[in-house]
Amino acid sequence: MTMKLKTLKSYDNYVATQTTVNKQKLSHVWVTPKELRLVAACVRRHVSNPKFGLCHGVRNGFEVKGLRELLGFEIVGTEISDSATQFENVIQWDFHDVKDEWLNGVDFIYSNSWDHSYDPEMMIQRWLSCLTPDGVCILEWSRNHLPKSVYRADWFGIDLPDFLSMLRRQGVVEDVIRFNRVEWTQFPRQPLRWCKGLVLPLRLIVLRAKGQVS
Ligand SMILES: C[S@@+](CC[C@H](N)C(=O)[O-])C[C@H]1O[C@@H](n2cnc3c(N)ncnc32)[C@H](O)[C@@H]1O
Repeated sequence: MTMKLKTLKSYDNYVATQTTVNKQKLSHVWVTPKELRLVAACVRRHVSNPKFGLCHGVRNGFEVKGLRELLGFEIVGTEISDSATQFENVIQWDFHDVKDEWLNGVDFIYSNSWDHSYDPEMMIQRWLSCLTPDGVCILEWSRNHLPKSVYRADWFGIDLPDFLSMLRRQGVVEDVIRFNRVEWTQFPRQPLRWCKGLVLPLRLIVLRAKGQVS
């Protein structure tokens, strides 16, 4: 299997590593406006009458703000670092844990930070337990999620086929959307960058819990 998971020395060491790297990169944003538009479209397509969403591992909350604007309902972000308190609608929270009020109560969960998990199978199982009957998890996969990217705070890496197999053991993969991270409007100014984006496109994986309505 093409995957790599760092050993957990201690939980305190895990939180300290995540917090240090989070603060070093506090103003960085990985997710793009283009990806957020795709996530919002996905939520509208797959979930009837959504009212509440979670984004896990949000750093400065860029995706929370963007998705709240696009979707117009309550969305909360989780962030393990104590920097969370600086950002609106972001709570300091370890995404491996589930609040009682989230159980069967979340219409969508979006994350590109699942590769920071020290126990990805448990994490996915817990996220699925939060979904409403037609709720979905939307997980980004990119080259940054490959095993070779496991370093410092990036705890877990897996190639796409193995990630899909792992997800299928836990839930139902309903859709896999390929997209170029670079907007087509950038092609005239950055043709090389745009073409590079085609070589290893990103994916949005739409996952439901087993036995859910689709
Ligand atoms: C790669 S960054 C991605 C940030 C943001 N999603 C983006 O697109 O820019 C991962 C973030 O997840 C946070 N994180 C790591 N482990 C976490 C956990 N167990 N629970 C909540 N947040 C976590 C890190 O502190 C970091 O800010």
